[in-house]
Amino acid sequence: MNDDTRDFYDALAPDYVGLFPDWEASMTRHGEVVEALIDGALGTGEAARARLVLDVSSGIGTQALGLARRGHQVLGRDLSPEMIARGRDVAARLGVALTLEVGDMRRARAEDAGRHDAVIAMDNSLPHLDRDEEIEQVFRSMLLALRPGGVALVSTRDYDSVLARPPAQRPRFDPLRLHTPPAGPRRISFQLWDWDDDDRYTLHLVMLDEREGGWPSVTRRARYRAISRATLTRLARAAGLREVEWLMPSESGFFQPVLRARRA
Ligand SMILES: C[S@@+](CC[C@H](N)C(=O)[O-])C[C@H]1O[C@@H](n2cnc3c(N)ncnc32)[C@H](O)[C@@H]1O
Repeated sequence: MNDDTRDFYDALAPDYVGLFPDWEASMTRHGEVVEALIDGALGTGEAARARLVLDVSSGIGTQALGLARRGHQVLGRDLSPEMIARGRDVAARLGVALTLEVGDMRRARAEDAGRHDAVIAMDNSLPHLDRDEEIEQVFRSMLLALRPGGVALVSTRDYDSVLARPPAQRPRFDPLRLHTPPAGPRRISFQLWDWDDDDRYTLHLVMLDEREGGWPSVTRRARYRAISRATLTRLARAAGLREVEWLMPSESGFFQPVLRARRA
């Protein structure tokens, strides 16, 4: 399962930036919004200017680079070596200093213990994990990496609205997007979701690039589990996180619901 997730992102890495209308603008915005979410829990004194932040599913760094560019000391990890390699390239191109390395968010590391002001896992990374035990393990690893009073942030798709529907009415298609990069071909992308008998699904990410004489397509597949906010709250508490709360996009400015919690 994890090999599949890693392979999916390794293959997607060269195209990841192209999934956003303007990735650099998104990175800047994510940096601002995630910083505000951290400050909302920890306050805005002198220490707020240079937090120690661990991003356990950084990908190419949409949040990690955004935070580093705002002066925070960021360590980003990700399962996918290709996403990490791309992130390093982007950081070098933009002159942003941060550390990016390959790592599995389920694995607790002794060297992280008690170090970080904030530990984050944003943009639907946890729903790649199949079992409750794995998610609880991620929360335990996040807790271990936090200093006392530190804050954890996790964002996921709004699966509550998906799970509220009868199975036959769950979404099976995520709308078409047209990407028009300043250089390079136009691209169309869309997603198909094939549901299992339970809350798990296979996502097919289809991309078509305009070429002379047609629109050849590439399809990549990933596995997800639709997880409710109540389940994530329960697992975060079971792992030992405290003050667990959810901030919806209208409150946080982040595009997905965000779980925010603290180490006691
Ligand atoms: C949708 S991407 C988001 C990445 C980043 N937060 C961003 O917004 O650009 C989800 C990321 O989760 C990572 N991921 C999935 N399972 C993981 C695991 N067990 N440990 C670390 N990273 C993982 C993937 O490799 C992928 O880069």
